[in-house]
Amino acid sequence: MSEVYDKLKICLESIREKTDFQPETALILGSGLGDYAEEIDVVDTVAYTEIKGFPTSTVAGHKGRFVFGHIGKVPVVIMQGRVHYYEGYPMSDVVLPTRLMGLMGAKKLILTNAAGGVNYDFRPGDFMLITDHIATGVPNPLIGANLDELGVRFPDMSEVYSLRLREIIKAQAQKLGITLQEGVYVQLTGPAYETPAEIRMCRAWGGDAVGMSTACEAMAARHMGMEVCGISCITNLAAGMASQPLDHKEVQETADRVAVQFKTLISGIVDQL
Ligand code: HPA
Repeated sequence: MSEVYDKLKICLESIREKTDFQPETALILGSGLGDYAEEIDVVDTVAYTEIKGFPTSTVAGHKGRFVFGHIGKVPVVIMQGRVHYYEGYPMSDVVLPTRLMGLMGAKKLILTNAAGGVNYDFRPGDFMLITDHIATGVPNPLIGANLDELGVRFPDMSEVYSLRLREIIKAQAQKLGITLQEGVYVQLTGPAYETPAEIRMCRAWGGDAVGMSTACEAMAARHMGMEVCGISCITNLAAGMASQPLDHKEVQETADRVAVQFKTLISGIVDQL
């Protein structure tokens, strides 16, 4: 058995000593959305620091814990604060929490993030339904001995972001009167924001938004057969597209400004997925 799988099993056992909650849907909350986890009907929480071997997040604005509870009638596990590759963890650790939520029983995964807009039609504060991703700028999370217990060596990635879930999300956004852009998310490593030339590259590749997370988690989830969807909050225009330099404060301020709307959208979709 591989070291990566051993670690997963140790983490799972550690969680199971604290809670036997069985989630149906998993959510990963990006910048600005963290406090959504406190607004649900919470049953249990497990801090990442309580889980043996778990990578603990260092980025400001991200709390580190799993929150278990219900959104409507749906049992969910929320990852309040994610692990980023730029923090220095190996990719296998970055996707470990995603895999753990899958092993806890979650069949569906909702990913959210803050992202820079690469598409000139986007404005800060827009939401973008992720239709596909480009993850060639980061190591593939499935590199290494295949975890046969989870999935196949060469998994299909032709529909990472479920068309079924996308249709539900689009219908719900329309019902709520929330404008939803659609597009391709490009994951790069960060932590530096991109250069204007890199953003032109993203656009030439066919990207609409750029960020430092999500695609790797989506791949790990698909590998193990979870149904995945993702929504980006476009917090800023990417490098070179606006007159002022990029600033993490701007990212957080925009994410905070539209957080209520973002939460409304997510609450509205969970029990329909
Ligand atoms: N680039 C990368 N990641 C981001 C950005 C960006 O412009 N905005 C929010 N996350």
